[in-house]
Amino acid sequence: MRLDKFLAESSVGRRKVVRNYIKEGFIKVNGKIITEPAMEINENSDVIKFLCKVVSYTGKVYYMFNKPAGCITARKDKTNKTIFDFFDDDKMNGVFHVGRLDKDTEGLLLLTNDGEFEHKLMYPQKHMEKTYFFWALGSLDEENKKQLQQGIYIGKGEILTKPAKIEVHKCGIYKDFKHEMPIENLNNIDSNQYNQPVVSGYLTITEGRNHQVKRMLKAAGCYVVYLKRISIGGLMLDESVKKGQYRFLTEVEIQKLFGKPRY
Ligand code: URA
Repeated sequence: MRLDKFLAESSVGRRKVVRNYIKEGFIKVNGKIITEPAMEINENSDVIKFLCKVVSYTGKVYYMFNKPAGCITARKDKTNKTIFDFFDDDKMNGVFHVGRLDKDTEGLLLLTNDGEFEHKLMYPQKHMEKTYFFWALGSLDEENKKQLQQGIYIGKGEILTKPAKIEVHKCGIYKDFKHEMPIENLNNIDSNQYNQPVVSGYLTITEGRNHQVKRMLKAAGCYVVYLKRISIGGLMLDESVKKGQYRFLTEVEIQKLFGKPRY
């Protein structure tokens, strides 16, 4: 196996990062500094050290994380909690998140140390479906639904969104649904607005533009107050993984994601 691949798959860092570590002389193979990322090593018998610490091979890892609201999808942040604060630190150096969820969005987020897996999921031509459950202020009539399904303008200079699927789950007025809405503080609502229309539903998109679900629903006249990603491709969020928790994906789940055997 190549030295850079070994290091990336041992959660030392992403391929690009570990190549720099190698070139800068931070890596020793059997006691000798090696500066060639493509060097072939034997992961079973060679002793690889990064900054004097032995690196043990972990292989490719794939995590399902149930992101809670209130943390940002980033490795580090000066002021906010990040998704990595929920993980055991020393295993996570080479692990990265696949795509992003907004700070206030909950639900399914995948993390891996496998760049090819990330590429396959994020590559726009793959049209990977992502389904979000939402609660929003407003209502969606047939015309709004048609716009969401066919494509809608969500910002100046942006092209129409790709066709999406919309399914309204519940609609009515706020006071009848407020106990079902999983939101602690809804600042936009005061008691005078209890007759405000609200709607919940599922929106499935195949793109990954910034704040896309919120902007699509806004363009259709709704203001999202709760958002949770529930699936990516054929993979559903496992609801037994509580908010802030994670677990490894099973091989079957990885296959479900892509709808066929992975390689
Ligand atoms: N769309 C959004 O608006 N927010 C997310 O976090 C994900 C998709």
